[in-house]
Amino acid sequence: MNKAVAYLSELIGKSVHDIDTPALVIDLDAMKRNLGRMAEFARKHQVRWRPHAKLHKSILLAKMQIKAGAVGVCVQKTSEAEIMVAGGVHDVYISNEVIASAKLARVAALTQAVAAHGGQIAIAVDSLEGVSRLAQAMSDARTGIRNGTPSTATVIDVFVEIDVGQGRCGVQPGQDAVLLALEIRKHPALRFAGLQAYHGKVQHVRNVQERRMTAADAMKSVELTCELLKAQDMAPGLVTGAGTGSFALEAASGVYGELQAGSFIFMDADYAQNERDPVQPHFEHALFVKTQVVSRHASHAVCDAGHKSHAIDSGLPQVHALKRQEGLDYFNGGDEHGILRPSSGQTGLPDLGQMLWLIPGHCDPTVNLHDVMIGVSGGLKSGTVERIIRVDARGALT
Ligand SMILES: Cc1ncc(COP(=O)(O)O)c(C=O)c1O
Repeated sequence: MNKAVAYLSELIGKSVHDIDTPALVIDLDAMKRNLGRMAEFARKHQVRWRPHAKLHKSILLAKMQIKAGAVGVCVQKTSEAEIMVAGGVHDVYISNEVIASAKLARVAALTQAVAAHGGQIAIAVDSLEGVSRLAQAMSDARTGIRNGTPSTATVIDVFVEIDVGQGRCGVQPGQDAVLLALEIRKHPALRFAGLQAYHGKVQHVRNVQERRMTAADAMKSVELTCELLKAQDMAPGLVTGAGTGSFALEAASGVYGELQAGSFIFMDADYAQNERDPVQPHFEHALFVKTQVVSRHASHAVCDAGHKSHAIDSGLPQVHALKRQEGLDYFNGGDEHGILRPSSGQTGLPDLGQMLWLIPGHCDPTVNLHDVMIGVSGGLKSGTVERIIRVDARGALT
């Protein structure tokens, strides 16, 4: 057994103080409370809940979410879907456009694979070309062109993505979306499932009133599209979308039937800067980078976690305040280092060798930097390592 594997397996049952640094650590108690709050919210508002697994990329956590009441998971990539399905998660929505023929063949194969388990694959489209390519891949899989053996007549659920304000993927709400839905209906292996209406920009609007107003505009375009679909005698199907910053608004809208929020189980430093809408449950930070002070000077200390340990696209991490670490600011020290200085009005610096906990600015890309997440129960001060959670879909980008 190599040393890294031996170290991880021997960690289980040991104190949180024995975790070597830098390491990605989940406070399992906090994570489970977050999970419970979301499950309760979804039950109370009678809305389906399909968390985004692009956050944790973990089969184990996906299964925990499904056990807590989620209908399945979202993923963003074909390879993430493959990993989830291979791990026994059989209800997977690729909430993204897939265009390459080779990938679409894999999507079609997955559709067949999950059907054997009573599962379902869904995917988003935003172009006529995309519908045509998907239909071709499904048809090829049905006739078994690739391996010469006829396969069963499975269908894939297809959501038409509308751009509700993010300016990323998606057709314009309204008639363009209706045209795509009508096109989907022409193909026997495709089933029009509804609308994908995710607004990424709403998630990080700090002010509650502004966030509500931006989300309300998005909902108007969803409603308009639903009306136009009905005018064509088409049921609008399920409207799916929402993230951790806005999901309570979509849930209350009466138009969204499914929530895709993912980050709430870990809660990064960026989301914590949002003014909390009282209609939204409170979520705790549950994902941390454990780091150690390796150098100390009169003006600053240096820790061993740089941006190879945490993503910095949404800002630098915050130092989590445990007893003696109050009032420290983290500054970029490069790939392998973080610079720590007292926050304004504070004077103390941590000692050489002291352990610190960082709250990542953005959890999704932070998780993708690590092979494993170390699950701790009993808290960060004196807890115990309960399990090692693999980042199964780490690097699954295709
Ligand atoms: C399509 C889609 N749905 C849902 C989410 C989940 O958002 P969050 O992790 O911020 O809750 C994202 C995040 O980027 C997304 O791209």
